[in-house]
Amino acid sequence: MQVFHHIRSLRDALAEARRAGKRIGFVPTMGNLHDAHLALVKQAQSTCDCVVASIFVNRLQFGLNEDWDRYPRTLADDTAKLESIGCDYLFCPEETEMYPNGMDEQTRVIVPAMTDVLCGASRPGHFEGVTTVVTKLFNIVQPDEAVFGVKDFQQLAVIRRMAEDLCMPVKITAGEIYREDDGLALSSRNGFITDDERPRVSQLNRTLNWLGEQIKAGRRDFLALQDEGRGQIENAGFKVDYLEICNSRTLKPAADDDRELTVLGAMYTEGARLIDNISLEVV
Ligand code: PAJ
Repeated sequence: MQVFHHIRSLRDALAEARRAGKRIGFVPTMGNLHDAHLALVKQAQSTCDCVVASIFVNRLQFGLNEDWDRYPRTLADDTAKLESIGCDYLFCPEETEMYPNGMDEQTRVIVPAMTDVLCGASRPGHFEGVTTVVTKLFNIVQPDEAVFGVKDFQQLAVIRRMAEDLCMPVKITAGEIYREDDGLALSSRNGFITDDERPRVSQLNRTLNWLGEQIKAGRRDFLALQDEGRGQIENAGFKVDYLEICNSRTLKPAADDDRELTVLGAMYTEGARLIDNISLEVV
């Protein structure tokens, strides 16, 4: 695997791959890689001739009192993991490479209507940071295809919309959610879960599944369902950020006759904020 810290040298290498007619796949990450990240790389490998992974803990998408400074940075381990699965290129720039004009850089990419709800409501500026850095990364890598995990459902929806609206010449592909045996979705923030909390945190996933079953069984009293679901998570000892049954495409609160639904939830543990979602089609 070739490792690049600079845009210029990565571009030179990718220009060569492109000249050789290779289809370039891209998996952006913030590092501290786990099996879900590696699965995204493998998924890109299955449809592309070469794959670029990036590792960059993007300060622009963290709020002022969020965990940017304590976000786990494990570059040596991450590099070894990517190498072991045959990833071709790793781009791991310093902040000055990505933000040469500093963090008061002026240009932003925003997708307003989809980012003031759910995670965007409790993390103001977060998605603006994501869409801006992903746009920069797309401009740097110019991939044919980029893979994003369904775990961050809203992020995936926002990036799809951004790529469509801005005519970005990249195919956005979704990678399924990877979970622990008890349903907890893999996340770099799971390391902040305490031993005491660990047996209980899968309640978020259990509640999402329960809500899915209730809807499939015909219930359409979404607000009452959400309240019941919240109660389950609170009873397990966690503070709920949101628990919402949404239209999968618009992320707006689900209407009675919507067919494609996604139930999204976020809750706080002592040291982390965990998110999860499930999608279902009702007939
Ligand atoms: P990060 O949280 O490192 O996630 C990188 C990619 O891995 C994202 O597409 C995310 O959805 C996916 N992912 C994480 N956990 C997953 C799981 N359990 N199952 C499936 N996919 C999973 O998301 C980001 O980084 C950043 O916002 C980024 C897009 C890199 C922009 O900075």
